[in-house]
Amino acid sequence: MRVTLRQLRTFEAVARLKSFSGAAGEMHVSQPTVSKQIKSLQEEIGLPLLEQIGKKVFLTEAGQELFSTCSDWLNTWSRFEQNIADLKGMKQGTLRIASVTTTKYFMPRILGPFCAQYPGIDIILEVMNRDRLLERLGQNTDDLYIMGVPPEGMDVEAEPFLDNPLVIIAPASHPLAKHKRIPLKKLGKEVFLMREQGSGTRMTIERLFTERNIPLNIKMELGSNEAIKQAVAGGLGLAILSQSTLTLEPMKSELTTLNVQGFPLMRAWYMVRPKGKPLSVVVETFQQYLREHVELLAPRS
Ligand code: PGA
Repeated sequence: MRVTLRQLRTFEAVARLKSFSGAAGEMHVSQPTVSKQIKSLQEEIGLPLLEQIGKKVFLTEAGQELFSTCSDWLNTWSRFEQNIADLKGMKQGTLRIASVTTTKYFMPRILGPFCAQYPGIDIILEVMNRDRLLERLGQNTDDLYIMGVPPEGMDVEAEPFLDNPLVIIAPASHPLAKHKRIPLKKLGKEVFLMREQGSGTRMTIERLFTERNIPLNIKMELGSNEAIKQAVAGGLGLAILSQSTLTLEPMKSELTTLNVQGFPLMRAWYMVRPKGKPLSVVVETFQQYLREHVELLAPRS
């Protein structure tokens, strides 16, 4: 069988993203190029690997076999490429970062200047909630993980690099908006809009209310910080979010931050890696860049 590395990379991206256009975007090639690579790979293997129904892409049995084989193999190969680049002392290669949902307000912002300084380093940034991210950490899928609460019971190295205050937001017209030093227990009578199960923000809030024995009345669950802000502005309830979600948007006049005792709740953003995983030059370069350029991540108002 004559299969090329390029075909395998293309197939892995289509199978992982379940999308030809997504794979084309990630690989910086056109969609017909992706289709051509997959077609030749299928011809070489002699069985269909993917089925497309409407816009959805499904893996056939042979496709699933190949996906698990080539994911492992490509990981090994990219480690090899990285080791060679490291041996040559070069700052080049691919850096795969998995980052929790809320970091989308600041993580992408640092990548532009970083890539400009290190043009040999390609970045793949995947954004997902904490639960998904922990799954990937367990499978050792990425080089670096960015999250708000380092996992307990997993062997990791976690280093804080940025403040992550949590604030309580309300519609600007809320009766508590003008109050000072509101006791947290008073919020036991309010209703809250909450992120989905598996969110790190939600986990922190639930722990806090449980520890303080305060009822947490969840009126609605929404899968995005943006949707929560809109619902709060619409008067559906209060929410507790990372302060970083309050930048860059034109909603300032509709929302207010409540002055509640113990808030902002100070937390940190952490860079996390599996303990003992060899530190490549690329990862080290990025970690050092984060440490030295925290000002690029500071909220803009
Ligand atoms: P989340 O994570 O975006 O999944 O809520 C944030 C955090 O871990 O603090």
